[in-house]
Amino acid sequence: MENIDLREATNNDIPIILGLLYELGRPKPETDLDVDSFRKLVKKYITDNDKKIILVQYNETEIIAMVSIIFMTRLNQNSLELYIPELIVREKFQHKGVGKKLINYCISIGREKKCHRIRLESGNRRKESHQFYKKLGFDQSGLSFTISLN
Ligand SMILES: CC(C)(COP(=O)(O)OP(=O)(O)OC[C@H]1O[C@@H](n2cnc3c(N)ncnc32)[C@H](O)[C@@H]1OP(=O)(O)O)[C@@H](O)C(=O)NCCC(=O)NCCS
Repeated sequence: MENIDLREATNNDIPIILGLLYELGRPKPETDLDVDSFRKLVKKYITDNDKKIILVQYNETEIIAMVSIIFMTRLNQNSLELYIPELIVREKFQHKGVGKKLINYCISIGREKKCHRIRLESGNRRKESHQFYKKLGFDQSGLSFTISLN
């Protein structure tokens, strides 16, 4: 796909980032207080040194995809682990190589920072994204367990 650029998110991008997260099925704010708190969370994410949000911009204006990154320390590793909490390509722009571009970006920044690996989780129901990750060389290396505390 042509006319696309990758760039780091700024505070001006917060509304669009929240929009992309809702598209992924993340909880929508229920009150104005939630909106404010979600905005603050994204703002902090953008500022923190161990985190990044990378956006894909189409035709210099439209944000069509994003990946969030956390550089994590592990107790038994001298190098960082690059963890990807969110990767989203807007539906209209899927299957055009945009997701691959973002993963390749993560690989190159991970190599720059001498990370030992990239890790992410993908829900059981996201069968299509499992194929995507396998196609890009990821191994399914474990199971993910969660317990709700709400
Ligand atoms: C999963 C997702 C990130 C993939 O991004 P994308 O831009 O559509 O994928 P790409 O076009 O870059 O595909 C890259 C490669 O994966 C393959 N691929 C993509 N989707 C696939 C699928 N459903 N089945 C098999 N292969 C697939 C492509 O064929 C392509 O291979 P190629 O390089 O040989 O052409 C995107 O579809 C998406 O955002 N989905 C909804 C949200 C989501 O599931 N996010 C992941 C949460 S864990």
